[in-house]
Amino acid sequence: MTKHRIIYDTDPGIDDAIALVFQARHPQIELVGITSVFGNADIDTTTTNALYLASRFAPGVPVVRGAAAPLRRPPPGPIPHVHGKDALGDIERIGRVDKHEDGRDAHRFIVETVRAHPGEITLLAVGPLTNLALALKEDPAIAALVREVVVMGGAFGINGVLGNATPAAEANMHGDPDAADIVLGAPWKVSIVGLDVTHQTVMTTAFLASLRDSAGDAGRFVWDVSRFYERFHAGDGMSKGIYAHDYSAAAFVVARELYTTRSGPVRVLTEGIAAGLTIQKPDSVRASAPDWDARPSCAACIGVDSDAVLDLFARTLRN
Ligand code: BDR
Ligand code: CA
Repeated sequence: MTKHRIIYDTDPGIDDAIALVFQARHPQIELVGITSVFGNADIDTTTTNALYLASRFAPGVPVVRGAAAPLRRPPPGPIPHVHGKDALGDIERIGRVDKHEDGRDAHRFIVETVRAHPGEITLLAVGPLTNLALALKEDPAIAALVREVVVMGGAFGINGVLGNATPAAEANMHGDPDAADIVLGAPWKVSIVGLDVTHQTVMTTAFLASLRDSAGDAGRFVWDVSRFYERFHAGDGMSKGIYAHDYSAAAFVVARELYTTRSGPVRVLTEGIAAGLTIQKPDSVRASAPDWDARPSCAACIGVDSDAVLDLFARTLRN
């Protein structure tokens, strides 16, 4: 089977790091680049973290600095209570950082890489969608050349949840709603892995401890880095474990059969108290809705075989 060639657009971030370890170890994934974006921390911090993670788990993969701020808003403030002061759970960092940033801007790297490999590149985006929107602005024709865009973000209320950054918005959509509305409306194939399924996919303390004891350096790292995230989740009312947000999007790339999707165009609200809210008009709805009807359909995940998704993670790390 041909490999999935992925540009990983990320704001590391604890769950971003966990998803990176999975990609680095999965035999059917070839990481062709890691592009950073502001989000879980400022761009200096997320880029530093991307360099660290690539040095430790994905040597040879270029790391490219991306956007420091949303398209038309100031950069958000820090959220150290979610991912730690360093956004990687404040763990002791093992090993040397032996990588330097690729000199290009992330959006330029995306354009050049997609053009160099037409029809082959999957953009796996697990932070605010600013880099992807900038790439589209620079070269709209890349939309036809990308294999697929898989986004961790949004929520459609399937299980009663619309947001985690606000009651109405998931964090990545809230981070840059303008970029999100552009990216989800562009003429490329988009799949959305949002809170509707990531909240159903919980890495429990027992699951993480078992990986710590059976999956070598990768398993120990996932355990270490998830300690801070687990405390945050506990404070948020969750009993023992973490949501597998960004990993779920990586799992979708290699195992989409584990997800149920609903097709239809998606809008992202860009203003007001619900900025970042994602709303889909399912293709099955016939009534006209001009603000949706001119846009291509996206596949939004509405169901998941979470046991199988977690088993995929464990098997991949143990191999
Ligand atoms: C998303 O927000 C970030 O905090 C996580 O890394 C993930 O990408 C979850 O809403
Ligand atoms: Ca993220």
